Formats: sequence, C-alpha cells, structure tokens
Amino acid sequence: MKKAVRLDKFLADAGAGTRSEVKKFIQKGKVQVNGVPAKKSEIKVSEEDEVVLDGNRISQAPEFVYYLLHKPAGYVSATEDKRDKTVMELVASDRKGLFPVGRLDKDTEGLLLITDDGALAHELLSPKKHVDKTYYAVTDGCMTKEDVQRFADGLEIGEKNPTMPAKLKILSTRKVEETELEQYPSGWSSEIQLTIKEGKFHQVKRMTEAVGKKVVYLKRISMGVLTLPDDLKKGECRQLTAEEEKRLKESVVIK
Ligand code: URA
Repeated sequence: MKKAVRLDKFLADAGAGTRSEVKKFIQKGKVQVNGVPAKKSEIKVSEEDEVVLDGNRISQAPEFVYYLLHKPAGYVSATEDKRDKTVMELVASDRKGLFPVGRLDKDTEGLLLITDDGALAHELLSPKKHVDKTYYAVTDGCMTKEDVQRFADGLEIGEKNPTMPAKLKILSTRKVEETELEQYPSGWSSEIQLTIKEGKFHQVKRMTEAVGKKVVYLKRISMGVLTLPDDLKKGECRQLTAEEEKRLKESVVIK
C-alpha cells in the first residue's frame, strides 16, 4: 500500500509547481483525482490514485525532474549569486538540488535545462559526448562564405586546440540604418544560426570575434534533442513533457 499524502504535497513533490502554486491550480479546478475535479488541497492521495493536472497524469515524487526554461537576458546561470538574479528564481519548484545544465552568459537568452539529475547533466555536458548546441545570433559585421568555411575548419580562440568543426548558416545580411551605428559600428549586420559541439566559455562570441565580427544578440534554440518551444515565452519555465523526457534520456547513455 503506497503512502497517502496531501494533494498539494503530492503535486509539489512531483515538480508541478511550488506548494502555493499547486494550491491555486486546485482552487481553479485544474486538478482531477480519479476523474473528479479536486476541491481541496488537504485531501489525501497516493500513487494508486489517478491525479491529473491540465490533462497530464502526475506521478508521485519522481526520482528526478526536468524543466525547460526560456532564459531571459539579465539572469546568471547559477544556483546562487551575491549580485545578480539567478535562473533558479524563474523555476517554480520547491524541490531541493535543482541546477542549470551548463551555462548561458548573463546576456544570452534561450533554452536552458534545469534538473536535479546529476548523471544526465554530466552526460549532456561531457566534452566527449559532443552534444549539438544551436544558437541564433545577430552580429555587428557582415558574415561571409569564407567565415562559413573557417567555422567548419575549426578556429583558434586561444585554447590549446582549435574549435571542433561548427556549422554556420548565414540567415541574412543588411546594411544598418544611420541611427543604429552605435550598436553596429561596422555599418553591417548578419543574422546567423550556428551549431557547435563543445561548450567552451563564451564560445560563440569568441568564434565570432576570431573572424573579426561581434555578437550583439545571442539565443540558444536547441541542445541535443531539446528545442526551445515557440510557445514558451521569455522567462517562462515548464516541466519537460513525458515525450521530451523520454527522448532526452534515450539520447544520452548514462553509465
Ligand atoms: N556561447 C557564448 O558565447 N555565450 C553563451 O552564452 C553560450 C555560448
């Protein structure tokens, strides 16, 4: 017989939200227990009950939880920081031990995975695993066909070895307006998509600098099998769907 716990605790432990958030979900009638909308947070449920939030079946206290965050600029990728706001402030969960998988710079936006699954994070970040990371960037300076080749060949960015081959796609290039010259002093700007297999410090910015241009906007759009969903707004965070979680786990072999 599984232990019965309060419905709000059951939901919070499952990573569905903070305790106060899940209470609101219950009040709003978003939670069903065995097919009936639950009216009170205090009712007791166990794993044998079918608990459904917004149409998704919730399992009691999964071993690990996984969140997709659309990181906005202005937040640091850390669990604590003395000066800056951290990405953890955007994750609606009371679970202990959550951390961001890798780092995006304070001014970088986009996909960041937050979890408490250390082994999975280790595999995703391992330099040997070469998990693809794709970024959208806007540059000061015109990216060229020669740059595409240089990114593919590998670049010297002041590390022991050149970077691994990276796939650069130039999406567009334009001459900027007079009024934009402060941001784009070269007078030109390109929009690019770049896929890298490593995760060196400031890698996209340093690779772009190595070909004489500058990143003025950076956003991660995918990491391995995970893609930033169009409907996840800047600053929003949600749990991975069961399907995303399955694909993610299948994509990394944990030793
Ligand atoms: N490369 C960078 O330069 N910055 C990031 O935040 C991520 C990749």
